[in-house]
Amino acid sequence: SDYETIILERRDRVALITLNRPEALNALNLAMMNDLVTLAAELDADESVGAIVITGSTRAFAAGADIKEMAGNSYMDAYLVDWFSGWDRLSAVRKPIIAAVSGHALGGGCELAMLCDVIIASDTAMFGQPEIKLGIIPGIGGSQRLTRAIGKSRAMEMILTGRSMNAAEAERAGLVARVVPADELLDNALATAATIAGMSLPIVMMAKEVVNAAFESTLTAGVRFERRLFHSAFATDDQKEGMTAFIEKRAPNFTHR
Ligand code: HXC
Repeated sequence: SDYETIILERRDRVALITLNRPEALNALNLAMMNDLVTLAAELDADESVGAIVITGSTRAFAAGADIKEMAGNSYMDAYLVDWFSGWDRLSAVRKPIIAAVSGHALGGGCELAMLCDVIIASDTAMFGQPEIKLGIIPGIGGSQRLTRAIGKSRAMEMILTGRSMNAAEAERAGLVARVVPADELLDNALATAATIAGMSLPIVMMAKEVVNAAFESTLTAGVRFERRLFHSAFATDDQKEGMTAFIEKRAPNFTHR
């Protein structure tokens, strides 16, 4: 593979990306950020890919941005390269990304999980924004995405104290879609991704786009946007196929057009 810090495997229409810096609990250094956003953009452009899964190791999804790499930098070092803005390229991906989280998802690791569209957690998962203990604040969207995901009071408490949430608490708070036993995590995430990848790709992309609009717009504007994309679904072959298949009592054969 062309990537040093991640591993890509293809399972039919699903792409599985495994973060692979086990010696550092998958700490997100700049090489890993670049590998991940570059690969994600390639997979986004590949019509044979319907969904993406990002996972780590059993012990750690990712234990944060790489503290050893960050430690000696100055404000100017950070400002001039617009540190961590590269992660924005992951939120520009139009296909669904599922985070399969086991073990530590801390700091940048929690933020990476929240950059994904769905989080599936193992019962060993721990989520937290411990930056405050290092004398910094979240820097890859955590203050915004965690607050939207679990509400102000819970997000404030976590970000101000640095305390982590376990999987059960993350599920109650609505941060994760579901919690599964650790040894079923990957199969569960891959099955969910395969289900999505079996749907019409352009319709899946529209569905992701409208749900994301809920975070970016007013209710009226979001509902209007949804209605327009709903109308545009009727321009696809897959809408004709999906509805014809239902009426003929058979499975649809989507052509992703
Ligand atoms: C660099 C890290 C790391 C990190 C772990 N390691 N997390 N290296 N950056 N974020 C390294 C350790 O230094 C150690 O390397 C090896 O991984 C194993 O970690 P241990 O600490 O020995 O493991 P353990 O005792 O099991 O503790 C696990 C842990 C702890 C609780 C997750 O590693 C930890 O607290 N890590 C830091 C978590 C954190 O603060 N994350 C937020 C980072 S700031 P050696 O060489 O000693 O074996 C952030 C900001 C993002 O993410 C926003 C941008 C500004």
